Amino acid sequence: MSTAESELEPAAAAQDEGSNPAAAPGPQPGHALITGASSGIGAAIAREYARRGKPLILTARREDRLVALADELGPLVPCTVLAADLADPGVPAAIFDQVTDIGLFVDTLVNNAGYGVTGHYLSKPWTTHADFIQVMMTAPCELAHRFLPGMVERGRGRIMNVASLAGLVPGSAGHTLYGASKAFLIRFSQSLALEYADKGVHVSALCPGFTYSEFHDVTGTRDMVSKMSRRMWMKAEDVARIGVEAVESGQIVCVTGRLNRAIKSMFKLLPDGTGLRIMQKRARDFRSAD
Ligand SMILES: NC(=O)c1ccc[n+]([C@@H]2O[C@H](COP(=O)([O-])OP(=O)(O)OC[C@H]3O[C@@H](n4cnc5c(N)ncnc54)[C@H](OP(=O)(O)O)[C@@H]3O)[C@@H](O)[C@H]2O)c1
Repeated sequence: MSTAESELEPAAAAQDEGSNPAAAPGPQPGHALITGASSGIGAAIAREYARRGKPLILTARREDRLVALADELGPLVPCTVLAADLADPGVPAAIFDQVTDIGLFVDTLVNNAGYGVTGHYLSKPWTTHADFIQVMMTAPCELAHRFLPGMVERGRGRIMNVASLAGLVPGSAGHTLYGASKAFLIRFSQSLALEYADKGVHVSALCPGFTYSEFHDVTGTRDMVSKMSRRMWMKAEDVARIGVEAVESGQIVCVTGRLNRAIKSMFKLLPDGTGLRIMQKRARDFRSAD
């Protein structure tokens, strides 16, 4: 996608003209805007909100996937597709402008799009890290900054930042910025939640552990992680349901699953040095440092 804001167009095929609330008389329902809705946890969150009758705005780069999801969920709720690459710094503003131009409003923002970058820090050029920071940190912050004023004005809003258990445990070699970006999202969510709680806006950091999705195919670590115990894994549908329940109920940090909560608590109790050593040993099972 180009950086030009005017070039961000909703996929006409995916808009349900008949039920588009922009065209209907009377008060409009608030929409849930979900980034990274083309697969995994994002698609599952879209299905969970559709099940609850929430109109959707679906975004990611793969438009064909988004259109297929909109076709699947169209019988339940109106769906609008905006294909965009969040590595492009112009895209969060373009998404906001496009949503406003087509007359929709967002009362639920799900910052879910994400991926990992394997290897040591210097094994990738700076541009790879700059794109990662844009997608994982800058874009979620900018989308929240743009959509939050409307939520505050209307006295109701929900922001779910999909972070990770990786943001709550010590760092490890490989995937250098991943844990850091998720720790950032967790702290950001906590501050934002406290600042806007009295305005009717709930902000949550959803912290899944290993979840079945395309994530490890994209990072090329599927072979490594498939050797791990199945007990470590959760289904994207379960993570999505838990995440939606958390943000709707105002839970600020939500770690999915009992085992992941136990892991988080264990690292909290351990001295820093011991925690780092354990992480370094265990991370060889799932972090590619080459
Ligand atoms: N799976 C896990 O074990 C796990 C654990 C903890 C946290 N998480 C987090 O969960 C979130 C969702 O990941 P997932 O597991 O569902 O992985 P996934 O199946 O690979 O989905 C990632 C989503 O992010 C989108 N995305 C990636 N780069 C993008 C870009 N530059 N611009 C726009 N969209 C982009 C992808 O869409 P396109 O490729 O179509 O753009 C896709 O929809 C991520 O933030 C991830 O860090 C995952």
